[in-house]
Amino acid sequence: MANIVLGVSSGIAAYRSVDLMRTLQRAGHDVRVVMTENATRFVGPETFAALSGHHVGIDVFGREFEPGFDHLEFARFADVMLICPASANTIAAITSGFADGLLTTSILAFDGPLVLAPAMNTKMWQHPATQANLATLKGRGVHVIPPAVGLLADGDVGPGRLPELEVIFGELERIIAADRPLQGVAVLITAGGTREPIDAVRYVGNRSSGKMAWALAEEASHRGAKVTVVAANVDLPRRPQIIYVDTPTAHEMLIACRTYHRDADIVIMAAAVADYRPSAPVDGKIEKSQSERLEIPLERTTDILSELGASRRDGQVLVGFAAEAGAEGLQRARAKRVRKGVDLIVYNDIAQAGIGFGSDENSITIIGPDDHEQAVPRASKRDCARNVLDAALAARDLRRERMGQ
Ligand code: CTP
Repeated sequence: MANIVLGVSSGIAAYRSVDLMRTLQRAGHDVRVVMTENATRFVGPETFAALSGHHVGIDVFGREFEPGFDHLEFARFADVMLICPASANTIAAITSGFADGLLTTSILAFDGPLVLAPAMNTKMWQHPATQANLATLKGRGVHVIPPAVGLLADGDVGPGRLPELEVIFGELERIIAADRPLQGVAVLITAGGTREPIDAVRYVGNRSSGKMAWALAEEASHRGAKVTVVAANVDLPRRPQIIYVDTPTAHEMLIACRTYHRDADIVIMAAAVADYRPSAPVDGKIEKSQSERLEIPLERTTDILSELGASRRDGQVLVGFAAEAGAEGLQRARAKRVRKGVDLIVYNDIAQAGIGFGSDENSITIIGPDDHEQAVPRASKRDCARNVLDAALAARDLRRERMGQ
């Protein structure tokens, strides 16, 4: 089941989107509606709000917004966006990249599948400008459900009618299925950096922001996987369809991973887990003393990845991360893959400037079975995530092949 943003632009066919929304909901999809201002002249937003059970987005600066649910939230929420009806004006705005309203802004901020169901007067549909815009959009991978031929509301006969709802529904289902190859696959991802208390106010921590893990989780979720993120101190926007479990310390992360890894088909340990923690954290606050030195005894934490590697079930794929620096880093990462008993190690060289911790880009090498290595030169974390997921799926296929399945 998918999260669908139904964009309603202006045109008499807007009223048919109400039935379409009901059909999508009955099929189990979660639907949120965004309307253009002009569309509200054809159908009242209250109709969509009452039937969807959710607030309807209209205005980028709308005061009636639910807290935390802004134009980027619609883009984040959506697995797929369906614009129905798509007016000639909205098609032109999307083609030109306008962000002049909530609907166009949401579309511009969305990088998943976009489906248009145009409906308009025949002459507007046949106008070279509209046809050129649609050709451009198709070239960008936008799906267009062509209008039906028939009697239009304005008395003309020709192409421009919104097709039967079953046609739109069927086409959308086909697009969703093709875009969600990981439907039914469970993915567990750890994220962020653990903080190990020294006393009530201080901790031993690290600089991991969780962005790489977040990109992995969003990519897996967009592909239809059931994603659980075990997160250590990550302050990033959350997708409603991902389950998040907050575990500030290495020990809490260990307990959560022991619970959630059993059902996971793919486990990706992207978190920076403390290797050592203060062995006797103080309840209150440690006061300054006359001494020039303060020594804090540390003890080893459990290596979660190694534990999962030793107890994994058949067919489960394990992916670890290795943040290393220097010339021998890659060699150490290769050894780590074998030592921790995992399928893949994602190596990133933390010595490279401008990437890694806190940044939106990364540069990685994915070390796989049979010492197969794939370098992903500097790219967005989302692109890196796509490569890591593809490699994890290839490792899963290889496992199955070797198990004779
Ligand atoms: N990891 C883990 N549990 C720990 C420490 C690390 O699961 N207590 C995981 C990390 O999430 C990462 C991988 O192990 O996927 C590599 O972490 P790193 O700290 O680089 O590995 P170490 O084993 O500590 O490496 P080294 O022995 O070289 O210090």
